[in-house]
Parts: sequence; structure tokens; C-alpha cells
Amino acid sequence: MNNTDIIITYEKQITLSNCISPPSSKETVAEIIKGITSTPRYIPTRFFYDGTGSALFEKITGLPEYYPTRTEKGILKENAPVIAGNLADTDIVELGSGDCSKISILFDAIPSERRTGICYIPVDVSRSAILKSAETLSRKYPEISIHGMLADFLKHLSNIPSKKRRVFCFFGSTIGNLDPAQTSHFLLNLGILMRKGDQLLLGFDMVKDIVVLENAYNDTLGVTAAFNRNILRVVSNLISADFDPEHFDHVAFYNSRESRIEMHLKALKDLEVESPFLSSGITIRKGETVHTENSYKFTRPRISVLADEAGLRLDKVFTDDNHWFSVAHFRK
Ligand code: TRP
Repeated sequence: MNNTDIIITYEKQITLSNCISPPSSKETVAEIIKGITSTPRYIPTRFFYDGTGSALFEKITGLPEYYPTRTEKGILKENAPVIAGNLADTDIVELGSGDCSKISILFDAIPSERRTGICYIPVDVSRSAILKSAETLSRKYPEISIHGMLADFLKHLSNIPSKKRRVFCFFGSTIGNLDPAQTSHFLLNLGILMRKGDQLLLGFDMVKDIVVLENAYNDTLGVTAAFNRNILRVVSNLISADFDPEHFDHVAFYNSRESRIEMHLKALKDLEVESPFLSSGITIRKGETVHTENSYKFTRPRISVLADEAGLRLDKVFTDDNHWFSVAHFRK
């Protein structure tokens, strides 16, 4: 499916294409039941982001312990003149575009007369996020044309329009929330889709001191804990169950063998979960965990391997003084 709306904001036309057909409630219920009855139990990460979840996540990005967002923005700011030099007269495709604050750092570094000719293509599963950022950007940078894509970057890469040389941007180390097989598959597909002269800017959170890593997912205000527990409220509503988030502890730790932060919810007592979609209630024993998220951390050699696998040339890795985060620039 791919229908296109024309939306007018601030006297400017914004195009929005929709590639998404939302899963039926039956599929959603089946997906949740499968996860919570598996061994080990898990909940698919897409259920984090209801309204409350998205607001909590935004709060996480501003926490003192959560270094990735501000470190990546610092890297973009520091290197914006160099990076922006490659952006004139291109289609800029931002995957998982979110609130558009990162791309703005790059647009700011392009003189306004050189912004004409750029088409910005935000790709996100949230219609409201795309519309909000399109409004903000069209006001700040009236020279840039905007074509939003309501799409899942794992499924709809080939639906993204390509009229010009393209620069793909994928910030936030969102790539770290995929498992390694998905990562390879995604980059391989992207590498196949890219044509000679196309570029990719990819944000990676790097392996570092365990204390720094673990603190980033165990903030003292408990915002990450609230974010993690909120997923139970979301799935509970979807399957009409009676999970009480307060009966679970937030657990986040670094698994060095897998180079990833793992987030889990740990039952604080024996629990009986009932749902009209379950033939019999499920028992979750005290101490049992439900796996909710992985966040893989990267090394410079691993980034090179990913480039090779995808058939891309690793041009440059921009980083911060501590080497906590990297923005890698690839070319086809
Ligand atoms: N990709 C980021 C990370 O893994 C953002 C993120 C996704 C996140 N899910 C999260 C941050 C859960 C904190 C908690 O760090």
C-alpha cells in the first residue's frame, strides 16, 4: 500500500506517503501472547511507544546519565561543516526521524541559498512525529522540500522515492536495537538499494566502561524504569490482561559476551495473569524475567565488518573525545 496525501503547512506543501497497513488486533494479540508464553518470556519492543512511552523516552534523552543523545548531537555539531558539505542538491532520507532535532543541526550548517534543491524525506512509523517535524522544518528552512514517509524502515526501504543522489541518515544508535542478524540483513538491503554516489550516516553507541553503560539505563530518577514498566501497561490493555507494572522490577545490565545492554522486567512475587485470549491463566514465578529490549554496543572493527558485509566503503568515523559514540560515514 502506498497512498499519498498533500498537506499544507505554513503555506507550504508537504507530501506524505503511507506504506503502513496497521496489524489487525488479532495479529497484535497473537504476537503478545506468543512473547509472554515463550521461554524465556519477552515483549516485542514496538509496544514501548504509546503516547506515555514516547514522552518517557523523550525524557530519557535529556537525563544526565543518558549520554548517547547529547554526545551524538555534539559530534554532529562539531563536524556539521564537513558533513553538510556533502548534502547540497541531494535527497536526505532520515530513517526513524523522530523529532528532527539531529537533522536540524546539519541543515543549520548549510547556507540558505545552498539548501534549495534539497528534499528531506523523514521515514517514521509515527504520523504525528512526521507532521510535527515537517511543520517545524518548513518554518525554519522554507527552501527545503519535504516528503514524509509513514513507513517501517525494516520493510519499506524500496518504497522510498529516489530522484537524486541520496544521503541516508540513521541516528540514535537505533541500529543497536536490532539483533545482529537483522542488522546484517538491513544493511545488506540498504547497500543493495544505494547507488554509486549515495551516502549513509549511521550513529553507533560504542563499547565502553560498564559503569557508564549501565548507569545510562539505570538513571537515579527512575525514568528508564518507568519507561520499561510502561510496556506492561500497553500490552495489558491490548490483551485485556491484568498485569500490574508495580509488581515488576526494572532490570538493566551489560552483557559483555553479546556486547549489549539488556532490559528486563523481573516479577517481585508469584503472579497469575488472566486474559480472555488465554485458555488458562499463566503463572509468572517470583524472580522470573520478561525480556523487553536489547541495545547493542559497537567497536570500530565491528563497524568495518558491517560496511564490508553491506558492500559499502567506510569513509570516515566521527567521534567525541571519549570515543563514547560514533557517527560513521559510508559511501557506495
Ligand atoms: N537506541 C537507543 C538505545 O538503545 C534508544 C532506546 C531504545 C532506549 N530503547 C530504549 C533507551 C530503552 C533507553 C531505554 O539506547
